[in-house]
Amino acid sequence: MEKLSGKKNTAVFISGRGSNLRSLIKYSKTKKSLIRIVLVVSNNSTAKGLDYANKSKINNIFIKYSKRKSFEDRLLKLLKRNNVDLICLAGFMKILSGSFIRKFYKPILNIHPSLLPKYKGLNTHSRAIQNKDRYSGATVHVVNKKLDSGKIILQKKVKILKSDSEKTLEKKVLKIEHKIYPKAIVKLLTSY
Ligand code: GRF
Repeated sequence: MEKLSGKKNTAVFISGRGSNLRSLIKYSKTKKSLIRIVLVVSNNSTAKGLDYANKSKINNIFIKYSKRKSFEDRLLKLLKRNNVDLICLAGFMKILSGSFIRKFYKPILNIHPSLLPKYKGLNTHSRAIQNKDRYSGATVHVVNKKLDSGKIILQKKVKILKSDSEKTLEKKVLKIEHKIYPKAIVKLLTSY
């Protein structure tokens, strides 16, 4: 739904640390931002990301995930009530159903710490190091019902050094995640 200012009402879903949420909040506060974060949802009551939402006075909610159907029904109502046009998953550790994606009917983005289609799922950094890959990176993609498989919007590489450990690689990749998520949003929203 188009707002007067043209900014898209955005919901960010998190489960933990929330460093990508923080970078999206920072972007949303810039003059040229194309989004307004109207809601942060966490399935984890102690997610550190909720502190960032509170600090920035962004409406946020913890929703307990016990059954997917009731979790998603609650979510859909909340999204409607807040006129959400775009969902950004940022370290959200639950898989959304095809039915949820169809019913929401608007874009859902995710950020993943690998050069998709390589290393879908978890432990991407250790897998890249074990396989002696020369590059890793991060990908922002559209969410569909298959895990980490939707259309790629933006991807950026980082070099894996011989000296890299899982920890140092994660740190390098996270740094580029924070840069590409806002860029991917701009790319998505200016491409139609
Ligand atoms: C990031 O590496 C993201 O790519 C992945 O989960 C991690 C979340 O980190 N999906 P944070 O909570 O945003 O700090």
